[in-house]
Amino acid sequence: MSSKRNFLKQFFKDRKMVGAVSPSTRFLGEKMLANIDFDKAKGLVELGPGTGIFTDIIMQRMRKDAKLLVFELHDEFYEALNARINDPRVQIIHDSAENIAKYLPKEEQTTQDAVISSLPLMVFPPELRKAVVSAGYDCLKPKGKYVQFQYSLQSKKFLESIYESVKITFTIKNFPPAFVYTCQKK
Ligand SMILES: C[S@@+](CC[C@H](N)C(=O)[O-])C[C@H]1O[C@@H](n2cnc3c(N)ncnc32)[C@H](O)[C@@H]1O
Repeated sequence: MSSKRNFLKQFFKDRKMVGAVSPSTRFLGEKMLANIDFDKAKGLVELGPGTGIFTDIIMQRMRKDAKLLVFELHDEFYEALNARINDPRVQIIHDSAENIAKYLPKEEQTTQDAVISSLPLMVFPPELRKAVVSAGYDCLKPKGKYVQFQYSLQSKKFLESIYESVKITFTIKNFPPAFVYTCQKK
C-alpha cells in the first residue's frame, strides 16, 4: 500500500492520534530541519514520525556519530518504520513521546541538540500536551531547539509558556498548509 493511502487509512482508524489526512511534504520537512546544525548535532529526537518522511531526511543529514531517537506510539506506523529502517544510529521506540528521558542514558539527559515534533498537540488533552513538550524541553541542551509543525497558530501561547524563544514561519507547500514553530531553550 502506498504511504499516502496507508496514512489515510490510519487517520480514519485513529483520528486523534494521527491528526492529519496525509503525510507531510518533503518541502515541509526541509523547512522544519533548516535551522538545525547537522554538522554539529550529535543528539536528535523525533516525535511522531508517521511513515517517516522527516526521519528519512534527518538520516541523510545527520553525522555518522550522531544518534536519533524516534518515538512512534501508533502500532502500525511503528512496525512499518521498524521494519524499514535499519541504521545503527537510529532507535525506533514504540512509546509515547513524553517518555523521552526513559530512553536516554544518565549522562545524556540534558544534552540533546534538537527535538523534531509532528505531534498533533492541539488534539491532545492539556496534560499530555504539557508533558510531551516539557519532556522535549528537559532533554535539550542550553540553546537546543524544539521544532514543531501545526496547522494553526493556536499553539503559540502554549509554546511560549515553556520555551524562552518561539519563532514562527508558514508554508503553503503542504496539505494542509502549515506553521513551523522553532522554539529555543535558554
Ligand atoms: C500528524 S502525524 C505526522 C506524521 C509525519 N511526521 C508527517 O509529518 O507526515 C502525527 C504522528 O504522531 C504520532 N503520535 C501521536 N501521539 C503520539 C505520542 N503520544 N507519542 C508518539 N507518537 C505519537 C501519530 O501516530 C502520527 O504518526
